[in-house]
Amino acid sequence: MKDLKTKYGPWAIVTGASSGIGKAFSMLLAKNGINIVAVARNKDNLVKLQTHLENEYDVKVKSISLDLFESNAALRLGELTSDLDIGLLVNNAGIQNHGLFSDITENDELKLVTLNVSFPMQLSHIFIRRFKQRGKGGILFTSSAFGYLGVPFFANYAASKAYLITFAEALNVELKPYDIDVTVISPGYTNTPIHDSVPVDYSKLPILQQQPELVAQIGLNAMGRKVTVVPGLMNKSLVWMTRLIPRSWPTKWASILIGNARIVERSS
Ligand SMILES: NC(=O)c1ccc[n+]([C@@H]2O[C@H](COP(=O)([O-])OP(=O)(O)OC[C@H]3O[C@@H](n4cnc5c(N)ncnc54)[C@H](OP(=O)(O)O)[C@@H]3O)[C@@H](O)[C@H]2O)c1
Repeated sequence: MKDLKTKYGPWAIVTGASSGIGKAFSMLLAKNGINIVAVARNKDNLVKLQTHLENEYDVKVKSISLDLFESNAALRLGELTSDLDIGLLVNNAGIQNHGLFSDITENDELKLVTLNVSFPMQLSHIFIRRFKQRGKGGILFTSSAFGYLGVPFFANYAASKAYLITFAEALNVELKPYDIDVTVISPGYTNTPIHDSVPVDYSKLPILQQQPELVAQIGLNAMGRKVTVVPGLMNKSLVWMTRLIPRSWPTKWASILIGNARIVERSS
């Protein structure tokens, strides 16, 4: 991994740092000597992470326990970090809803759009202005391989991740003249707690599980080198395939495969 501290600066902010891929991003960044602003709701997990990182590496950690569903969360986070020289924004927090779109409550789907789309957009807006002033910076988004196709039973989730991919691609071009790098990583099935409440038997799907540490490493390695990155040969091949065949095909295949792997009662 190249010297992210020299390239971006002394502090990084990681949303969704309390578990999974966000925790892995925080560990890797700290290992590279970067101070961390760790953001999530679960205070206990944040404190454990902070203690571990400060004991293990020569870094400072600021834990911020904040519910990012709240409408003013991005503004609040901007205020709480205004005294820190943050150079890297890792927009990673996200949730999944699963099931027929019509069976999921409108409120749950709105929460998903708030956390997966509105919040990273608002936080990017705040930090891009700060990065422009300091003359450099980087933004890393965690999307999903699902963002490359329509995915029945994950319709709103996949659409939210598609937003992040094209948003990042456009920002990368806009921000090049300001020496601000933008990368979006689109992981496939990764071993994290996000799947705990999702009634899908992933062993029935033709996919391989990856570890969050590897995903985080691939994402950070891509900063400044690639705009879009999909970790793993199999995930890469699946994503490439979606570009070579009619758009309706992968969505139909996803419908059949995920339909068979679901372990919930189907409702009409
Ligand atoms: N795991 C996969 O297979 C996979 C594949 C593709 C993409 N992704 C993406 O990877 C990202 C990280 O997910 P993960 O797999 O690492 O799952 P995870 O372990 O469940 O992590 C999700 C993180 O988001 C935080 N979060 C959720 N709701 C929040 C809220 N309202 N306010 C503040 N923080 C909130 C959680 O912290 P608290 O609960 O403490 O708030 C947690 O730190 C997500 O964007 C996800 O869509 C995951």
